[in-house]
Amino acid sequence: MARVFVTRRLPGPALDRLSEEHEVEVWPERLPPDREELLGRAPELEGLLTMLTDPVGAELIEAAPRLRAISNYAVGVDNVDLEAAGARGIPVGNTPGVLTDSTADLAVALMLAAARRLVDADAYVRRGEWRTWEPGLLLGFDLHSATVGIVGFGRIGQAVARRLEGFGCEVLHTSRGSGVPIEELLERSDFVTLHCPLTAETRGLIGDDALRRMKPTAYLVNTARGPVVDSGALARALHAGEIMGAALDVTDPEPLPGDHPLLEAPGVMVVPHIASATHATRERMAEMAVDNLLAGLAGEPMPNQVSPPEP
Ligand code: DGY
Repeated sequence: MARVFVTRRLPGPALDRLSEEHEVEVWPERLPPDREELLGRAPELEGLLTMLTDPVGAELIEAAPRLRAISNYAVGVDNVDLEAAGARGIPVGNTPGVLTDSTADLAVALMLAAARRLVDADAYVRRGEWRTWEPGLLLGFDLHSATVGIVGFGRIGQAVARRLEGFGCEVLHTSRGSGVPIEELLERSDFVTLHCPLTAETRGLIGDDALRRMKPTAYLVNTARGPVVDSGALARALHAGEIMGAALDVTDPEPLPGDHPLLEAPGVMVVPHIASATHATRERMAEMAVDNLLAGLAGEPMPNQVSPPEP
């Protein structure tokens, strides 16, 4: 039996399987455990099941000499110091695949909601301003037949492309070999949707220069990671009318404080990191995260193990 800490309650029954085999403590609060809570448990910790909100850095890994498996309840693992884990031979698991379609669905939903002004339209009705049908009321932009630029053409980017076939869109992407240069993608796209992981190369990828290349009628959609977009640059570009709007599932910082300039910017729509938030997907992610942890603790390869970075 290993001592396992799970940093949040998870949907579905998956954690029961973990508790049948190990001594499991589940953090009961709504907000994540802070650094002190994590460090306080570190000396005894053998297995750790984390959320994307929990930084698992070198400090925590060093403080946990018995730690033998880390399972992240997300496909993105930018919150985990893979190098520090790799140096100790600690396997790190993630949850790819099961959230691909839910995330792609939300990316398309954000494109439609932003360009067809659904949030504005709902607010308009609730304010009691709906008097009659009007020819020029709440006009937006079409997704059908638009050119959509997909930055990051992995599983999720490709799933978005498949959906957009049904909308008759022209899809541009940046993948090596068959893709276009990112400058061209930014200049030609009516929608730019981000599906790349957060890495040293992609941090701040969409900054002043990228935003200035986009069409003034274009929308930016981010369901990847907040720091791929420079929030200050985006707020500036929206105020300057350099792009038409942005629909963000992820932000930097996350959550955005109530007085953040992005929330004051015109044409911005923000939802709270919900791309994978369906009952079925979050339950599957839990099963997968538990499978990874059980395998790691048993000294077996995790079904979904992230490779440590190249030395
Ligand atoms: C992930 O898995 O990385 C998403 O951001 C949350 O499901």
